[in-house]
Amino acid sequence: MSIRQLSLTDFRNLKSVTLDFDPLFNLVCGNNGSGKTSLFEAIFVLCQGHSFRTHLLKQCIRHDKNGFLLFGRFDGFKAGLSKTDQKFEIKIDGEKIKRRSELVRRSPINIVNSASFELIEGSPGIRRRFLDWCLFHVEHEYAEIWLQFQHALRQRNRLLKTSRDLTQLDYWDQALIEPSLKLSRMRKKYVLDLEQTVTENLESIIFGITPGFEYYQGWAQDVDLMEAMKNTRNKDLKAGFTSIGIHRDNIRLTSSSRPVTEILSRGQSKRLCLALLLAVLKIVSRSSENRIILLIDDLHSELDRESQNQVYQQLLKMDLQLFVSNVETSLPVGLGAKEVKMFHVEHGTIKPRIFS
Ligand SMILES: Nc1ncnc2c1ncn2[C@@H]1O[C@H](COP(=O)(O)OP(=O)(O)OP(=O)(O)O)[C@@H](O)[C@H]1O
Ligand SMILES: [Mg+2]
Repeated sequence: MSIRQLSLTDFRNLKSVTLDFDPLFNLVCGNNGSGKTSLFEAIFVLCQGHSFRTHLLKQCIRHDKNGFLLFGRFDGFKAGLSKTDQKFEIKIDGEKIKRRSELVRRSPINIVNSASFELIEGSPGIRRRFLDWCLFHVEHEYAEIWLQFQHALRQRNRLLKTSRDLTQLDYWDQALIEPSLKLSRMRKKYVLDLEQTVTENLESIIFGITPGFEYYQGWAQDVDLMEAMKNTRNKDLKAGFTSIGIHRDNIRLTSSSRPVTEILSRGQSKRLCLALLLAVLKIVSRSSENRIILLIDDLHSELDRESQNQVYQQLLKMDLQLFVSNVETSLPVGLGAKEVKMFHVEHGTIKPRIFS
């Protein structure tokens, strides 16, 4: 799935505009503070219904305005999104949708930016979200099971805080088990798949690193989940929340069997992050009929020329719609003489430019 046209109004610092994109490769140039990341954010919000920069979409409303509007033409459908202080609405082909996942499923999008490098050193939640993006697009049951899990977890936490009704607690313990075990199995399987994809297909990115990825369930390793929940019930009643479960899962990353944070240099750690990202893109594009949109924001300040070159060589082998930002009006190393549509951003005004 590629995005062919975007119209935006009152989004961040950007002046209202309609842009026609290339289905394969778009380059966005402009000085610091001109609005490149804001354009990427607009595309991302239109595809995901949330931002990669903030949990508060209202921060994306242009200062002194009441709301923003985004409208996009994708291959095969149109999407519109409006946000004001009071209201948030998403429409697909003119019809209001109830669940954000209806939009997200149609337009897989991911971003590589400086925050991507937190995948290794950041909290387990970052790795869980990273893996779950893959599960969402590959396993069709995932969204439904995830909702069941969230619902049961919320109910259990509410009971732990507000009542001591142990019969109800038994019921919600039981309701948590099935979706938890299904999600846990999926995560375990895709961690293995990721490890295999990285080691077999991405040697050029991970040279000098011998990676190992291990799924760690968020409860005692050799104990069945029901038993573990019984064992921690008193602790949970005191704390007022569920302290174990798949919401505490982790993926441990190693190189030569040591924790990566102990052994890898900063540059190696960035290359391993990129290898993980590329592997996830490969896995999703293998099984999704929709082309993935990939935003690459300011990668060039993070990587040396050889690593950039390797990353772009890999990206060019995949069926993606790429958006790449660059401060300079030049193609990043590794993209060679690729055909590209270029946009220039200056103080929030975006104009298409002939690339020469
Ligand atoms: N809600 C908003 N309304 C108006 N302007 C905003 C809003 N939010 C951010 N800005 C401004 O938008 C400008 C562009 O920011 P953006 O992050 O898009 O720049 P950029 O081109 O990506 O810069 P860099 O190359 O430094 O990453 C900034 O000057 C910022 O202060
Ligand atoms: Mg930026």
